[in-house]
Amino acid sequence: MVFKLVKEWLGRSKPVKAELQDIELDKVPAHVAIIMDGNGRWAKQRGLPRVAGHHSGMKNVKKITMAANQIGVKVLTMYAFSTENWKRPKEEVDFLMKLPQEFFPLEIEELIENNVRIRMTGWREGLPEYTLKAIEGAIERTKDNTGLILNFALNYGGRKEMIAGVQEMIRDVHSGKLQVEELDENRFSSYMLTSDLPDPDLLIRTSGELRLSNFLLWQIAYSELWFTEAYWPEFTESLFLQAIAEYQRRGRRYGGV
Ligand code: FPP
Repeated sequence: MVFKLVKEWLGRSKPVKAELQDIELDKVPAHVAIIMDGNGRWAKQRGLPRVAGHHSGMKNVKKITMAANQIGVKVLTMYAFSTENWKRPKEEVDFLMKLPQEFFPLEIEELIENNVRIRMTGWREGLPEYTLKAIEGAIERTKDNTGLILNFALNYGGRKEMIAGVQEMIRDVHSGKLQVEELDENRFSSYMLTSDLPDPDLLIRTSGELRLSNFLLWQIAYSELWFTEAYWPEFTESLFLQAIAEYQRRGRRYGGV
């Protein structure tokens, strides 16, 4: 694993090599979640329409996925579309909804070669048929892969997830499947859409905004947060490795000493 990694990155730019040396491969976060922010501003800065930023952002997804896979991250959750993003102009929403049918045909072979498994966290209801078809096809084709899980948060909102979870819990209490006294943090987690995934160890947000924007609210209770001014389309492997290195320097105490 390490040899493959070093071999593959030997030809890379100096900063990536330097950052790679800072990473302790036995302390890599299992789950990294990313809020890919700043596509619109990146485009505006270049005199381009906002959707050009989303397109460029889409192209960055594979690069960072490969970097995460190579250092041994197990789950990478990317915030691709929130339940609030429907409020954007129709043309922008339509463009975002069409990205999966461009992304997967373009990248799926390489993702498969690298043993990446695709999954989705969010509500299928409300997504156009063609979006679902593209993502479901990728999920199906990669379902036996055992490497990194590339989890797209699509039509996802943390509060909606918690409310849906609480509704399900109440139904289970009414049907006798759950006793009120049995409810603890583990049981609550089992009602979240990510019940089979570890909680994120590290949350990265690009573009300089210091907000959570309704992302994995229950799951990030103890996550380390890392922010960068870089807009998502310009977020590099080097910055990703810097985030990992800083995560490794922090002492996680989970409320203890
Ligand atoms: C936030 O930037 C970004 C999004 C709402 C979309 C992110 C989606 C991608 C990068 C592509 C995902 C790829 C696939 C295959 C689904 P913003 O538009 O809010 O930026 P701004 O704050 O500068 O306006």
